[in-house]
Amino acid sequence: MHIVDKIINKYKNNNSLYIGEKVTITEHMVQTAMLAEENNSTESLVCACLLHDFGHFIIEDPDYLVKKSIDGKHENVAFNFLKNYFKPEVFEPIKLHVQAKRYLCRSKSYWNILSEASKTSLKLQGGIMSDNEAKKFISLKFHDDAILLRKYDDDGKIPNIKTKKIEDYRDLIISQLSF
Ligand SMILES: [Fe+2]
Ligand SMILES: [Fe+2]
Repeated sequence: MHIVDKIINKYKNNNSLYIGEKVTITEHMVQTAMLAEENNSTESLVCACLLHDFGHFIIEDPDYLVKKSIDGKHENVAFNFLKNYFKPEVFEPIKLHVQAKRYLCRSKSYWNILSEASKTSLKLQGGIMSDNEAKKFISLKFHDDAILLRKYDDDGKIPNIKTKKIEDYRDLIISQLSF
């Protein structure tokens, strides 16, 4: 099976709720991609938004990890898989999207708008960035795309709204492959 079909099937066959939210992981990622499109993002960023939590599809039992207060490092799991198939413009912001959250939480007003689930996971993910960590983060090439991704990520959690289907993104996914 072609890798793009494998990826699309994961979205179609996974009905798990996004941890602590009222949307499935699939709905959440499609909503995040749609927000990127509405904000005229590049195709690479739309694709990064669409795939950003793909790590949750690979991790065996994400709910178990949450219950045990273990961070499954879903951003690294996704990165290690996606880097074999996609352009850096896609997998680098994904790798950094949790760092972007930790960076943005340096602003109290940003922290205030986080969902309860997201506030809980922040602690497991290392908490708010220190000055030194923030300095290092903003020197990274794809940090700005990671920040944009993260903002759409926060808003892509609305239950019961009509969204595109994963198949609607097939051509876009194909266009972002590295081979
Ligand atoms: Fe995530
Ligand atoms: Fe997310």
